Amino acid sequence: MTDASNDKPAWTPKRIAAGLREAVSLEGAWSGSQWLACPARPPGKPRGGVAPARAEGQSALPDPVQMRSADAKQPTPARTPPPGKFVVRRLTVNDQFKGDKGDALRTLAEEVAVCKRCALGRSRTKPVFGVGRTEDKGIMLVGEAPGHDEDVQGEPFVGAAGQLLDKLLERAKAHRSDVYIGNVLKCRPPSNRMPQPAEVAACIVFLRRQMEILKPAVICALGRHAIRALTGREEPMSVLRGTTEKFQGIPVLMTFHPAYLLRNPAETDNVVADLARAFSLFREKSNA
Ligand code: URA
Repeated sequence: MTDASNDKPAWTPKRIAAGLREAVSLEGAWSGSQWLACPARPPGKPRGGVAPARAEGQSALPDPVQMRSADAKQPTPARTPPPGKFVVRRLTVNDQFKGDKGDALRTLAEEVAVCKRCALGRSRTKPVFGVGRTEDKGIMLVGEAPGHDEDVQGEPFVGAAGQLLDKLLERAKAHRSDVYIGNVLKCRPPSNRMPQPAEVAACIVFLRRQMEILKPAVICALGRHAIRALTGREEPMSVLRGTTEKFQGIPVLMTFHPAYLLRNPAETDNVVADLARAFSLFREKSNA
């Protein structure tokens, strides 16, 4: 079996480590057909010209363990993608992961913890990797980026928006322990500013790997940044909310971010209905 976009061989336990190294490669974030912010190709420049030449079999990155020890000795410059015009391409995930999910998630979280691919890795307090239920074919909620409380505690949705999310889940007859919660960005943007396209481009590989490992049955994208990163859709939320877009066979249900509801509570019932629908889609898939 191969990845449809890259013709890569299927995941096997032996390839997990190589895959994780790829997940921390900027080249991976910018490659081919992905729904994410990518530097636009200058006119006249051929496609695929960003990767440096390397010998056959050589990884795009040094061994992560060596990277970590090198990091400890001397700070490496932040690897923020170059400025320029950004376009959105389709994100693809490899659904062939077979291995121990706990181990794979822990290893990925370690990579996130030492990530300096954009400047946010230097300004944040704690990385916010993701938490929750990790069984196959579960529900994954994807938010935007950590805020102040998440940055301090290292856990997603623990601040005001998170408390509201808990109440929304309760009204949808569910609990946060029923879902896996992650974000598009793993580090807090200063002063809670919006994620920048270059940051999304640098970080999205981690979400992609989380999805590959978790294999969710249903994804609920909370707010326009998660929607854009996962589906590329950019229409107003009034158009997108409550709709579903297939992402490699996985339904992505689009709804408002809880932080938006703190300012616009009139949409609360709609978001509860969307979450309840995500759970009924999940139950349908589980019983299929
Ligand atoms: N907002 C998000 O999008 N994610 C969090 O983890 C917290 C607030």
